[in-house]
Amino acid sequence: MKSLITVSLISLYITVSAQIKPVLPDTKMDKFVTGLLNKMTIDEKIGQLNLLTGGEATTGSVVSSDVEAKIKAGNVGGIFSMSSPARIRKAQEIAVSQTRLKIPILFGMDVIHGYKTMFPIPLGLSCTWNMKLIERSARIAATEASADGLNWTFSPMVDISRDPRWGRVSEGSGEDPYLGSQIAMAMVKGYQGDDLSKNNTIMACVKHFALYGAGEAGRDYNTVDMSRVRMYNEYLPPYKAAVDAGVGSVMTSFNEIDGIPATANKWLFTDLLRKQWGFKGMVVTDYTAINEMIDHGMGDLQQVSALALKAGVDMDMVGEGFLTTLNKSLQQGKITQKQIDDACRKVLEAKYKLGLFNDPYRYCSEERAANEIYTESNRRTAREIAAESFVLLKNDRNVLPIKKSGTIALVGPLANNRANMPGTWSVSADFSKPISVREGLESAVGNNARILYARGSNLTEDSLLEQRATMFGKSLGRDNRSDEALLNEALNIASQSDVIVAALGEAAEMTGESASRTDIGIPDVQRKLLGALLKTGKPVVLVLFAGRPMTLAWEQQHVPAILNVWFPGSEAGTAIADVLFGDVNPSGKLTTTFPQNVGQIPLYYNHKNTGRPLADGQWFQKFRSNFLDVSNDPVYPFGFGLSYTSFSYSDISLSSSSFKPGEKITAFVTVTNSGNRTGKEVVQMYIRDMVGSITRPVKELKGFQKIELKAGESQKVTFTISADDLKFYNSDLKFVAEPGDFKIFIGTNSRDVKEADFKLL
Ligand code: BGC
Repeated sequence: MKSLITVSLISLYITVSAQIKPVLPDTKMDKFVTGLLNKMTIDEKIGQLNLLTGGEATTGSVVSSDVEAKIKAGNVGGIFSMSSPARIRKAQEIAVSQTRLKIPILFGMDVIHGYKTMFPIPLGLSCTWNMKLIERSARIAATEASADGLNWTFSPMVDISRDPRWGRVSEGSGEDPYLGSQIAMAMVKGYQGDDLSKNNTIMACVKHFALYGAGEAGRDYNTVDMSRVRMYNEYLPPYKAAVDAGVGSVMTSFNEIDGIPATANKWLFTDLLRKQWGFKGMVVTDYTAINEMIDHGMGDLQQVSALALKAGVDMDMVGEGFLTTLNKSLQQGKITQKQIDDACRKVLEAKYKLGLFNDPYRYCSEERAANEIYTESNRRTAREIAAESFVLLKNDRNVLPIKKSGTIALVGPLANNRANMPGTWSVSADFSKPISVREGLESAVGNNARILYARGSNLTEDSLLEQRATMFGKSLGRDNRSDEALLNEALNIASQSDVIVAALGEAAEMTGESASRTDIGIPDVQRKLLGALLKTGKPVVLVLFAGRPMTLAWEQQHVPAILNVWFPGSEAGTAIADVLFGDVNPSGKLTTTFPQNVGQIPLYYNHKNTGRPLADGQWFQKFRSNFLDVSNDPVYPFGFGLSYTSFSYSDISLSSSSFKPGEKITAFVTVTNSGNRTGKEVVQMYIRDMVGSITRPVKELKGFQKIELKAGESQKVTFTISADDLKFYNSDLKFVAEPGDFKIFIGTNSRDVKEADFKLL
């Protein structure tokens, strides 16, 4: 019996505390940086606070100009979106040979889910619930990026979101703070390793601090307004976990908090991040976030730049508010020299930790770039991780796995496309390389089966919407034939086949930044295609591409098999073939709730009970908290995902039904693989605090283990619970465990669970 990950609560705490290194002042670094600061003029210090873009990928209307001249003038602390050892070496050479103090530059990039070898989008990665694999993906990304000259990534993105309309749900790890925290730690560890100065580790940047995922209506960059209790308990834990894991930098978010844009929020950066959490690294703004405070209504560029510096921001991304106004603000007494020194110190310290003062070219090795990027071994790992991220949502009468024989009709606008396979935020990927579904299936079946392909439909009926959803080189090559002609072609091949595989859903850029949607279903023409394919009476497998939870009530009712593949990355086609043909048994579990319709949003498993909850098994009761027209249930709950085998759970056994603070109890279940093939299962443990000094969620994930069982095999899965696991932030924002009654739930998803009771004395 093999336990793939053992994240019992106890081991979790050991891991966390092992990762929190005692904060001892690094006297050598301190001496070096202080010495350097003493030599610097004010303008040289301000220059260090300036982060420019090399222009390989930009997300705003303002872009950096005259980068070379600015480096020479000592006006550049870092550059992002520039890659290759040759280009980076050239820019670094200017900095270290043509400026007075020869201070090297930081080189960053949005390495979000892989560098050249692309892994699934972060939301997909999170559905593996496999921390070892997630850490490995970040390790490989860091190795590849550093081989190409980079030393800093703007990842992990840990924004909790409960709003699938928000396009950036795709970049995060879903709706749960506990799971989000585990993933944040795994990513930071993967990127940074145990020594930032090694040439294959890079500095991570946790983002977007804070609460960016809670924008109103899921509209990007929108207003956030939230109580402190909710922040502390539900939204802040993953950022804090990244800080505890030693993340080197933090990025500000675009939204406001308590009426003050995050980028100027002193409470957030100085009181919470630095004083309460003890963060010692560097704070960088998001893209032109300082300048955007003019539109937020916080003042002119000089004023908002001063506000950001005073809040605790160290580096200004692209907007050059710091570069152009801080000196003036200093002369006018609006900021202090110490504030500039403190910010500059953080930037210099980051460079010191990365080893750049010892060797500014340590990340520039043509040889490494030639040998360590997009290797066979990295691609093999990408294939394994992709297959493990897929979530089997439905599989009636075991339509899946399909056989490698007979005739398979492959249909859909995403079936024969490479560029969309990596998904959003894949700025460093080569879009000609990913394996399409068609290629993956064809190479898997060889001569044993016939694969007939037809596009079947475009992405959407509306060509302008399709244009907006296929930006950044991720075209789907719109077919100008009529919808009817496309459909008829598909029906024709469907009629000749034994099974239909429909590769439908969202295009890569239908999620990600500035890609919010109010309708989160499968787009119009594709839904019509699916309906027509179902009418043929042939078995239909929906291979769903999605960067967010989608509304799938109709599909759940009508389509016999649904495999959600998110955006799988470089090895999309091979990994999809692995799972469709049963060479890999799917084991992904959802990390977000899938609502029935947009009107239910926000819908999340760890909600409060309210004073008028529905009675069990009811979906409407007058004067209870519900809707007239739809039940409160999701289509798929958090934690849900099927397998080609089945698992049964025994009742929960507790070592004791009560314990005192300082003591522990254990809970175990026996999980049995009751089907007929080997499979992996994510055993999930939730807790409910029945009575609290503030209202408590109906369930909170507090532990999970991913196990692998052979057919017929059983395993005892044990969780350890201590008072620490029962702690929450009370209305005084004190982190406390309150004595009283608790329920523990263990099961295969957040809905289908066994339960037992215990007391904290
Ligand atoms: C995004 C960040 C990203 C930055 C740099 C911004 O628009 O919000 O997540 O790291 O651009 O590319």
